[in-house]
Amino acid sequence: MEDQAEKLREIMKRKKETSPKNAPPVKPVDKARIITVTSGKGGVGKTNLSVNMALAFARLGKKVVVMDADLGLANVNVMLNMIPKYNLYHVIKKQKTIREILVETEYGISIVAGASGFSQIANMGETDRRDFIAELDTLSNADIIIIDTSAGVSSNVLDFIAAADDAVIITTPEPTAITDAYGIIKIIATEYDSVNMGLKLVVNRAKGAAQAKSVADRMINIAGQFLNLKLDYLGFIYDDVSVPHAVLRQKPFLVVDPKCKASICVQHIVERMARNKTRESSGFGAMLRRLFKPSQNEMNLV
Ligand SMILES: Nc1ncnc2c1ncn2[C@@H]1O[C@H](COP(=O)(O)OP(=O)(O)OP(=O)(O)O)[C@@H](O)[C@H]1O
Ligand SMILES: [Mg+2]
Repeated sequence: MEDQAEKLREIMKRKKETSPKNAPPVKPVDKARIITVTSGKGGVGKTNLSVNMALAFARLGKKVVVMDADLGLANVNVMLNMIPKYNLYHVIKKQKTIREILVETEYGISIVAGASGFSQIANMGETDRRDFIAELDTLSNADIIIIDTSAGVSSNVLDFIAAADDAVIITTPEPTAITDAYGIIKIIATEYDSVNMGLKLVVNRAKGAAQAKSVADRMINIAGQFLNLKLDYLGFIYDDVSVPHAVLRQKPFLVVDPKCKASICVQHIVERMARNKTRESSGFGAMLRRLFKPSQNEMNLV
């Protein structure tokens, strides 16, 4: 045990010495729980889940930040009818810090706005991405940080997923969405060679519990059998007309219609998440350590 700790200290020390000057310092573990929301296919409900899940956590007394990490087509702020003056574009351009662009909403959650039409993030260099992720450290006084990622795979999305405490994959029952969700899970499994990434599945726009469960069972079996990857079923959300209605009004459906089927489902999902934590170490310290892992062997020690 002591051996491992010693080895770990050595790795950290080496990393500090070899990382670029502006690489983030490795800080002690703090309490923020980082949840990413990702999908294979676009338009399956990531932003709606991120925002409404944030609200449900806030109602449990948590301090929540939603970060819109989709820098191509940002939409968290649109969904909340807000036009923040600054967004992640300014952070990436190093004109602002994340803390400076953080805005309070009227719903008791804060948001970090994404940047629409900024395709460069997909091709962000290693150092820039590292700086950017290190910037997140300034949000560590939050209890929960929900990262609404773009659909599909890019190294940024994968980095976020790998670093998160919980990586929520969302799909609908449509075969195309399921295939694409499986595609992203497969890439995660291949890239990260880890049986327990804290991967969780949400089935959105389901007709009911039975349909959602059969979609989830299929995916869990395939992931287990072919990828040796543990996938937890977190729950489902009804296909509910209250969702597009709320989207049109640019308000969260949990606010517009707290008793609608979709709202009840999101509350169940959040209650389930609040009950269990998968990774032993969470928070930014842990996130940064996972992100800057030098090799798989060394990661196993972290
Ligand atoms: N549970 C639901 N019931 C009915 N409609 C839904 C539901 N969830 C999402 N939708 C519809 O799907 C649309 C897309 O949802 P959302 O913007 O959350 O998806 P997304 O995955 O974030 O999309 P993108 O990949 O473009 O970022 C919503 O505007 C809404 O009309
Ligand atoms: Mg979205």
